[in-house]
Amino acid sequence: MTQDELKKATAEAVIAFIPDNCIVGVGSGSTVNCFIDALAKIKGRIDGAVSASEASSARLKQHGIRVFDLNAVDRIPVYVDGADEINHQLQMIKGGGAALTREKIIAAVSDEFICIADESKYVQVLGKFPLPVEVIPMARSHVARELVKLGGRPAWREGVVTDNGNWILDVHGMAIAEPVKLETAINQIVGVVTNGLFAQRRADRLLLGTPAGVKEFR
Ligand code: 5RP
Repeated sequence: MTQDELKKATAEAVIAFIPDNCIVGVGSGSTVNCFIDALAKIKGRIDGAVSASEASSARLKQHGIRVFDLNAVDRIPVYVDGADEINHQLQMIKGGGAALTREKIIAAVSDEFICIADESKYVQVLGKFPLPVEVIPMARSHVARELVKLGGRPAWREGVVTDNGNWILDVHGMAIAEPVKLETAINQIVGVVTNGLFAQRRADRLLLGTPAGVKEFR
């Protein structure tokens, strides 16, 4: 099976976990695009969605799924999103698509976070994928110097502006032994909006696409 077929299989499998008459939290990325397409087939049994990116919102609307402002919603029973890496504790690196901040906000609000990913994302130790950090533009150089002190090699993702109007630094060379500690330390740097470690609020469930079928981890 190709990676795209594995993504599609997990995106279709997660539909069984979507309760009736709820507002669904929807992340961002190519795996989530498959999820949005699958969600469209059952749109009659959900009230709508809150979305982590302008791109996901546009795709949801194209399918005729109502998109709510997060401030108008008091409960999200389930949030579905992909990951760039996920470890066996279901802690993740996210933000390859630069949507990490809105993803982290919706994840914080949601009762359950279900990660959908193909097996290439499942790792023992996080950090081979460069860790995205969203920064206020005027603080880019300051934050980069502080990230070097933490042992990383930051690279500016030039030309990319997040949906929040900020910039992204991708931090290379971090073998992340203590994800919660590093997530906290990076968020302490003045000028950081947030970083792509989802360790304090990890996924509650992982649906992993493999050639042998979709495997579930909790
Ligand atoms: C976007 C993300 C995505 O979930 C992550 O990049 C995975 O994307 P894909 O499903 O395309 O591999 O965090 O900010």
